[in-house]
Amino acid sequence: MIKINNIYKSFGNFKVLQGVNLNVEENKILSVVGKSGTGKSVLLKSILGLITYDKGNIEIDGINTNGFSEAEFNKYIRHKMTLVFQNGALWDSMTVGANIDLALQIQKHLDVTEREKRIKESLEAVGLINIRNVYPNELSGGMLKRAAIARAIAMKPKYLLYDEPTTGLDPILSNIINNLIKKLNVEMGITSLIISHDIKGVESISDDVAMLYEGKIILTCKAKEMWEQNNQIFNNFIRGKIT
Ligand SMILES: Nc1ncnc2c1ncn2[C@@H]1O[C@H](COP(=O)(O)OP(=O)(O)OP(=O)(O)O)[C@@H](O)[C@H]1O
Ligand SMILES: [Mg+2]
Repeated sequence: MIKINNIYKSFGNFKVLQGVNLNVEENKILSVVGKSGTGKSVLLKSILGLITYDKGNIEIDGINTNGFSEAEFNKYIRHKMTLVFQNGALWDSMTVGANIDLALQIQKHLDVTEREKRIKESLEAVGLINIRNVYPNELSGGMLKRAAIARAIAMKPKYLLYDEPTTGLDPILSNIINNLIKKLNVEMGITSLIISHDIKGVESISDDVAMLYEGKIILTCKAKEMWEQNNQIFNNFIRGKIT
């Protein structure tokens, strides 16, 4: 379980997170929605220790990671938690297969046989076995997102954090990605935290939904009940109404 307790983060005088509380429960899919620029990506990066926060703490499987060094994040957290970045973040100078291979070498120190097996399995899982020798800049947006997910699942993570996995994709590709996220959750038991603007997708695959607004989580609810909430800000947001 990921427990985010009262997290604050400012950049200079600019306050981004102002007391975020949120729990991500085991084997569930939790989606966080919120306006652009509210700190959703900052929140994901804080969980993985890619940026430091100012106050509060984050517990992952009972381990308080506040003040952890890079080495401690690598040792205790990053072997079981992977972030699928907003832009994919694959290295352009390497093929998709080499990208996955390098990540496995750096993070998992696996031998070549096991790495080969995982590269194949992960590309198969996202339906892209034939792009192993293709470079990222030769892929469409949807393939790139799936390649990024393949790299992430090759690590066999317990937790997957997805930063806007369907943004910029057409509705069919968005469905493919959403179904893939659900499949990984159901079949591999991957606990998932998703940042998304894709409200229909959020509704269809999530167990729970939360909204980040002005630095705080102002609402958490079951995805099934998201259209029946009493919170005006949330209601307007998911219906695309200007407040
Ligand atoms: N390293 C940084 N230095 C300074 N400001 C930053 C940094 N990272 C993020 N910010 C600022 O923090 C705010 C929140 O950024 P963040 O990327 O988390 O937004 P977001 O909610 O993910 O938005 P979007 O939906 O557009 O991706 C923004 O105003 C951004 O400019
Ligand atoms: Mg973002």
